[in-house]
Amino acid sequence: MFKAFQISPDIYWVGAIEWNERYIHGFSMPYGSTTNAYLIMDEQITLIDTCMPGFEDELLERVADVVDPAKIDIIISNHSEKDHAGGLARVLEAAPNAKIVTSDPKGLAILKTYVGEDRTFLPMKNGEDLCIGSRTLRFIHTPMVHWPDNMVTYSELDRILFSNDAFGQFFATSQRFADEVDTGTLMACAKKYFANIIMPFAKQTAKAVTAVRQLDLRMIAPAHGLTWRGPDTERILEAYEQWCTLRPNGSAVVVYATMYGSTARMAQTIAEAFMAAGVSVRLYDVQVSDISDIMTQVMDAEYVAVGSATHNGTVLPPLGQFLTYLKGLTPKGRTGVAFGSYGWMAAAPKEIADVMAGAGFQLPLEPQTSDWDESTTDEPALFQAITDLVR
Ligand code: FEO
Repeated sequence: MFKAFQISPDIYWVGAIEWNERYIHGFSMPYGSTTNAYLIMDEQITLIDTCMPGFEDELLERVADVVDPAKIDIIISNHSEKDHAGGLARVLEAAPNAKIVTSDPKGLAILKTYVGEDRTFLPMKNGEDLCIGSRTLRFIHTPMVHWPDNMVTYSELDRILFSNDAFGQFFATSQRFADEVDTGTLMACAKKYFANIIMPFAKQTAKAVTAVRQLDLRMIAPAHGLTWRGPDTERILEAYEQWCTLRPNGSAVVVYATMYGSTARMAQTIAEAFMAAGVSVRLYDVQVSDISDIMTQVMDAEYVAVGSATHNGTVLPPLGQFLTYLKGLTPKGRTGVAFGSYGWMAAAPKEIADVMAGAGFQLPLEPQTSDWDESTTDEPALFQAITDLVR
């Protein structure tokens, strides 16, 4: 039996708790996740967002705890990615008279492919209002945070922003408010979410945060994780303002994949050189580390060193996976270092350097290499190269 949770007068959380989800498009979720939907009991009964396919029954049962789903008049789709709109078709079976509010034109175009053309859509331009009774809802487009169709919904009467992906966290809990859980854990989840989903769109997100700053806010209710209220509303806005700058904090990240230990030895030498130069460093063997955790560190890093042994004329597979992820997410203009050991052809370090240059890294050093017997590695020269790089 699934129950609704009231977050404000006449407003209920009716989402799905994905207690056992651990992975979504490259992103690890050690605490699980939630996809949040909100029910507003006004003259026009309004549901904001739906859920991931497979969680529709949970959502509908939570709605039924408040009202018969057949009585829903309006379903707002703030974002048409499947984790929020994948359940729309099934929810519409239970709410056949509901009109669908979506962003015009991007959301409209996508949702028609999900549920067909013969639905009643209420497409909303940026800044348009919709009266649902005692409330007027305003729709603010937030394109590329993180899809073209994104928008947020603001209820002036309640001073609540339903922000969809923005300000979210992957965090499955029995609590619904940020102030009910450990702040450090929650902010770490919010930062990891930003680094792995929002970061490539930091400029667009900064504009969205500026627009949100114009609103009188009591709560921010995102589509993932906990709702921010009271002082936590300011906490997450300030965090986003800082994260959106993509300003590095001077730290370093060293990531490597090794075959028999010589690339690991190089990685350790590089990390030691950073440490000796007073640079805060994190060292990751990518074969036993999580790439989304690494990306969260890359978000702050001034220096990113990436190394692999050469294997079959290329990088080791786990390092290749990390490079793909790095290429899509990394902020531009950081300093990169490529390195790795080899037997007869130093292909991996060159390949890493090419990928990093293509991703926008500056690479002042030539790829650093050693042959497969680490006893012959010129560690002092590698150490000195990193020391000189930091100066
Ligand atoms: Fe949570 Fe972009 O979907």
